[in-house]
Amino acid sequence: MGEMTCIEDLRRLARKRVPRMFYDYVDGGSWTEYTYRANEADFQRIEFRQRVAVDITERSTASTMVGQPVSMPVAIAPTGLAGMQHADGEILAARAAKQHGVPFTLSTMSICSLEAVAEATGRHPFWFQLYVLRDREFVENLIDRAKNANCSALVVTMDLQVFGQRHKDKKNGLSTPPKPTLRNLLNMASKPRWCIGMLATKHRQFGNILGHAKGVDNIDSLVEWTQEQFDPRLSWQDVEWIKKKWGGKLIVKGIQDPEDARLAVASGADAIIVSNHGGRQLDGAASSISTLPRIVDALGQRVEVHMDGGIRSGQDVLKAIALGARGTYIGRAMMYGLGALGEQGVATVLSIIHKELDLSMAFCGKTDIQVVDRSILLTK
Ligand code: GLV
Repeated sequence: MGEMTCIEDLRRLARKRVPRMFYDYVDGGSWTEYTYRANEADFQRIEFRQRVAVDITERSTASTMVGQPVSMPVAIAPTGLAGMQHADGEILAARAAKQHGVPFTLSTMSICSLEAVAEATGRHPFWFQLYVLRDREFVENLIDRAKNANCSALVVTMDLQVFGQRHKDKKNGLSTPPKPTLRNLLNMASKPRWCIGMLATKHRQFGNILGHAKGVDNIDSLVEWTQEQFDPRLSWQDVEWIKKKWGGKLIVKGIQDPEDARLAVASGADAIIVSNHGGRQLDGAASSISTLPRIVDALGQRVEVHMDGGIRSGQDVLKAIALGARGTYIGRAMMYGLGALGEQGVATVLSIIHKELDLSMAFCGKTDIQVVDRSILLTK
């Protein structure tokens, strides 16, 4: 197996160990995948300004996100089906995040439920990502469950009123648990570690939904269910309503436009996440990192601006912070760690990114992440 020295190593191992349909769900975007690729590619175009002969002995990457202390400004992004990359995936990722001192965000579309994650992590606070579904009673109930699970911030996703088509998911017949077709059985037979883990856990379906949403006792197809349940009428009034109902820190995710950013703030957001959903929704949207400065400039200091999309290294995190992000999120990088090596894999991902962030900051002549700004970049 060799030593894992970068996120790419974990991606390669995950591709070997995770059944095809679940690996493809992660490593893919909508339609042509232009935006998915742009998210990563646009980071590559940004260059640092190296400085030397600065005393960089004492360094700190510690910061805060929505007022909460973080060991580095990197949270775990909400991702559907983490519990299908590895048995109990959400629990393992939450534990690794807790250990590392960074926030873990649980998706509405997780396999392990809010309650299961809370119990398995000793009720250590985590963040919960909420989809606004047609069934508002179910949404209210989810908000209450997030409170009971000791969640310390709510992340509302705004960019999934309709579902972007991902060709691979359609071709693979993505479902959980996977349908026992010959193709799936053959594929799973070549992933013995994954199978053994899955046989040993009771978490194999959408834990936040099954048994909680009225009349829903079987949602094997994420795509079909979401097409029925996701609300195309979602509005800023809904966000205000959620803010009131929740009462705590509210992070609004999926912002690409300065005008929407202002509306999010007016609706009660404590932070917004500049995001194109990892290139999984509007194909042809600009990359997150190229959009970030426009949003930061539009909002000024009024609210925290976070971003996700394309982060595969600590250098990427540093670039986002330099361009004005208060925090960043890793989705795929975390999923690759999980698929490769479970909890240890996520811990490795966090350590790799942390080390890269710390050393790159030092090369730029900075010792405190909180004072990093655009001056460390050549490309402004
Ligand atoms: C759901 O959020 C997805 O991107 O699959």
